Amino acid sequence: MTPPLPSSPRGVRIAGTGHYLPSNVISNKDLERWMDTSDEWIVQRTGIRERRRIDRDKGETTTSISVAALSRALDNAGLKPTDLDMLIVATVSMEMTCPSTSCRVAEAIGAGACGAVDLSAACCGFVYATNFAHELVKGGAYRTVGVVGVDVLTPLMDYCTEGRGTAILFGDAAGAAVYTATSDPSKGILAQAMHSDGHGWKHLYIPREPRDFPEDADPNRRKLGLMYMNGREVYKFAVTKFQDLIAQTLDKAGLRAEDIDQFVCHQSNARILEAARERFGIPHEKFYTNIERVGNTSAGSVPVCLDELRRSGRIHDGQKILLVAFGGGLTWASSLWQL
Ligand code: COA
Repeated sequence: MTPPLPSSPRGVRIAGTGHYLPSNVISNKDLERWMDTSDEWIVQRTGIRERRRIDRDKGETTTSISVAALSRALDNAGLKPTDLDMLIVATVSMEMTCPSTSCRVAEAIGAGACGAVDLSAACCGFVYATNFAHELVKGGAYRTVGVVGVDVLTPLMDYCTEGRGTAILFGDAAGAAVYTATSDPSKGILAQAMHSDGHGWKHLYIPREPRDFPEDADPNRRKLGLMYMNGREVYKFAVTKFQDLIAQTLDKAGLRAEDIDQFVCHQSNARILEAARERFGIPHEKFYTNIERVGNTSAGSVPVCLDELRRSGRIHDGQKILLVAFGGGLTWASSLWQL
């Protein structure tokens, strides 16, 4: 554990980021063999060409890919695992209900007795966890907090024609960031938002027991442990909420879209992303996408983008960046940073 900083004022900085993508690729051509679909349909409706899948034979699990991403983030920050005071793992694909994935990641990486807790907010998980981590550091109780956004959703997909509306979208990935205190109080979150609407739960859910299915679920398609998504409803929710959220967050910070150096958005569907980009008149170079290569990686999506952007030099100190996500719950969240 690192020594505490002198009392406030203090800011928060992104000290390091990392990510891990499993090496197994599921291409649209693979999907064509498993279900009635086509590369052309998938690219046109989603923008996705391929997504990654864990390899159990290589020992890849939610925990192992989280450890890989976090260890890269710590290296990038020049910190040791024992420098972490707290670890938050955002995921909906934990291996067990108990213990939490965060406890196992903390143990595997050698983080000693740091606090460890999981957070469940589907595709918004990393952004929620980032907002919590920021407040823990800003408030002075913790100096260095690690956040992992990870999901392994390919085992929850129904790779057949009945499941094609969902199975084409999702891939596996982990991303991580390490947040730490700085004596420069101008650095950190300028505005953030976290919302939910439980009325929409049945548009995206993973049933564990027969009673979990909504009453109107197709009786012939009730398989436990798989993800169900009403694509049309999620699309309608996402396309409006995503744009409202950007407007709300900019408004809270008293900023305009052109003041933001980089938008780091949840990669759900290229059409949803493009609608937002066009509405705010954001140039392509400030609106990163990697959905074509990795698909929708749920809680892994935003931190993978963040790390790719930082490592390529497109995100750096002094900039303003806006993290935005939405997903199951339903949930939506944002985090606007002064780096
Ligand atoms: N390949 C070929 N045809 C498919 C298909 C696939 N993979 N998936 C669905 N279809 C068919 C449907 O069966 C339907 O056929 P019908 O008209 O004969 O009934 C037709 O295509 C249209 O289906 P629909 O579900 O309305 O398609 P869509 O245009 O809404 O696209 C999604 C489906 C999933 C791509 C789209 O709804 C979507 O992206 N939704 C948002 C999902 C999302 O972002 N989720 C994550 C939130 S974090």
